[in-house]
Order: sequence, then C-alpha cells, then structure tokens
Amino acid sequence: MSGLYGVPDPASVASLAGKRVLVVGDVMLDAYLMGDAERISPEAPVPVVRVESERHLLGGAGNVARNIVALGGVATLAGTVGSDASAEKIRQLLDEEGIRSALVTLPQRPTTVKTRVMARRQQMLRLDQENSSDFSQQELDMILPVIASELGQHDVVILSDYSKGLVTSLFMTELHSLLRALPHPVHLLVDPKPSNVDLYSGAFIMTPNTKETGECAGLPVRNREEILAAGRTILARTGCPHLLTTLGADGMALFRSSDEVWHVPTMAQDVFDVTGAGDTVIGTLGLALAAGLDLLEACVLANYAAGLVVAQVGAAVASPDTLVEALGRLPAPHVSRWA
Ligand SMILES: Nc1ncnc2c1ncn2[C@@H]1O[C@H](COP(=O)(O)OP(=O)(O)OP(=O)(O)O)[C@@H](O)[C@H]1O
Ligand SMILES: [Mg+2]
Repeated sequence: MSGLYGVPDPASVASLAGKRVLVVGDVMLDAYLMGDAERISPEAPVPVVRVESERHLLGGAGNVARNIVALGGVATLAGTVGSDASAEKIRQLLDEEGIRSALVTLPQRPTTVKTRVMARRQQMLRLDQENSSDFSQQELDMILPVIASELGQHDVVILSDYSKGLVTSLFMTELHSLLRALPHPVHLLVDPKPSNVDLYSGAFIMTPNTKETGECAGLPVRNREEILAAGRTILARTGCPHLLTTLGADGMALFRSSDEVWHVPTMAQDVFDVTGAGDTVIGTLGLALAAGLDLLEACVLANYAAGLVVAQVGAAVASPDTLVEALGRLPAPHVSRWA
C-alpha cells in the first residue's frame, strides 16, 4: 500500500501559529571559539589557536524550542542552568529567540556548556563543562513546581533527554503524577537516550534515530525487517502506543502501532549539514500535534521541515514560509506501508 497518505495541506502550516509546546529537558550552551592555528605552543606539542571571534547557540532542549518558535509556535523551555556567565548567555539567547523561559538556577552545578575550539573550519578540541550526576530530591523540588505550573497551559510536552541528570526514575514518576492530575490529556513526546529507555513508559511517542532504535531494543537495525523488529520490541518494552524512528537519509518510520507502520522518504534534495535535524523533527511533530494534525500528517510535515534544515549549514530552522513553499513545490512523498 502506498500513495499520497498523510501529506498535509499547505494550509495546515498556518494552523501552527500560536500553538503552545512545553519543552522540558537538558538545556545546553553550544560555544564556538574561532580563529587561526599558525604555530605550535612553546609549552607543549599542541597548536596555538588565536581566538578571533566567539559564537554562542542554544543547544540540547533549547534547540528544540528554537525550531518551534521558528515555525510560529509558542515554546516554553523548562530546565536548569547554573549560577554563572553561561546561564546569563542562555537567558539572553532565549530572549533574542523569543522563547519563553521557565529556567531554574541550580547553584550547585554548572551550566552545561560544550565549547568547540575551531581553527578555520577544523575543530581542534571540544571542552565540556557539566555535572551529569542524578538530580537530588532537593534539586527536583526546585524544577518540578515550575513544570507543574506550566503544564496547565499545555497539551503537548517534549522531553529532550541528554542524560545530564534531570531525567531519572524519580523525575519521571513525579512528571507522570503531575500529568495524571491534569484535567486535560497531554501528549508526552520523548527524544530518548537509549540508556534511559525504561524510563519512558507512559510517553505518547519517542523519536529515536536508527542507531538509538537499535540500542533501545538491543537489536541490529541494518535493514527494514530489523528496524521493524526493533521498533516493535521498543513498543512492547515501553508500552508506548507509538514510535517514530528517524532514518537519516532514508527518512522516517512511524509505528502507529506494532502492526501499522508507515515509511516516509526524506524530502531533502541537497544535504549539507544534518546537525540538529532530530530536534527539527520532534519540535515540528510536537507543534503539529498541538495544532491538531493527525499523527501521520504531523510526521510527514516534520519530515519536510527536516529536509529543509539539512539543506542548510549550521543549526538551521524551518519557517512557515519555506515549509509552505516546499509543500507546494516538491512532489508529494511516496508514503508507504511497511506493515
Ligand atoms: N543524510 C540525509 N539525507 C536526507 N535527509 C536527512 C539526512 N539526514 C537526516 N535527514 C532528515 O532529518 C531527519 C532526522 O534525521 P536523523 O535520523 O539523522 O536524526 P538524528 O540523528 O536524531 O539527528 P540529530 O543530529 O539532530 O541528533 C530524517 O528523518 C530525515 O528527514
Ligand atoms: Mg537525535
């Protein structure tokens, strides 16, 4: 079975405007120190990079929020930062990007920062500042009330887990009890960390890439049959109703259930930089669900957005205009049933 299934109407893009998504997770700062390496240090056999410019970008859960805002949605970012200059930088970036801040300062741990030292285009070194130990009860008691107060205004929550200590069994138990207490149903979407797979039961959908799908299932994912088996294993293991495996150059596979699986080929024509495509997928999917799109339609729209993003260099995002234009210009994807 194949054909024009799930292809969204360009008008559905307009329906994304103003819809709200709560992004919860590990917030990071991506820093770039850029310059030239012209000599070897007299102190040690390493190159000396003379820094000429610096760049800062929102990383981790922050990049998911960026994608939502770029599409016209209202994104609120709930997470933690330290009490340091990098936290100030993150708050400034949220402001500039128009992302609502629900950040909590935890003075006991540093803001997570990944600093790349670049000489021309070449990455020389990455410096990670982080404390990824599990959050204490006291730390959870600081972030949970903030999430609780945001939940009332949201019916889609994206959990962006980079395993920096927030997402623990205790956190998930508390989150689920907050969700259960709400008068309205909430869709919880998870960008998973395979080592935490058993923490995600109760989620509406997870969005692992191919490698993560294999790791979550503990199975190989070399071909369609193996991906189907791995996806079904994850559904059975977590009890989640749906699963979206992103397949890189092969697009994505939506497990609506164990025996209803759809394949959506990529829309990308040129591929320059695949960084952050996963954030585009889950951000677009969440916003489209908040706008009431059908799950398959929402995935197809997310696949269009990812196709636009990989065609650009850097941490690109898709806009409503480019999405509408792509929906009008590109031939409809050949969405087919894998099972
Ligand atoms: N090489 C590629 N060619 C075409 N499309 C691509 C390519 N890589 C990614 N995409 C598009 O981006 C989507 C998400 O990509 P991918 O499966 O690589 O996610 P990811 O590994 O989670 O990405 P991230 O780097 O953000 O973690 C795919 O479903 C596809 O639509
Ligand atoms: Mg990813």
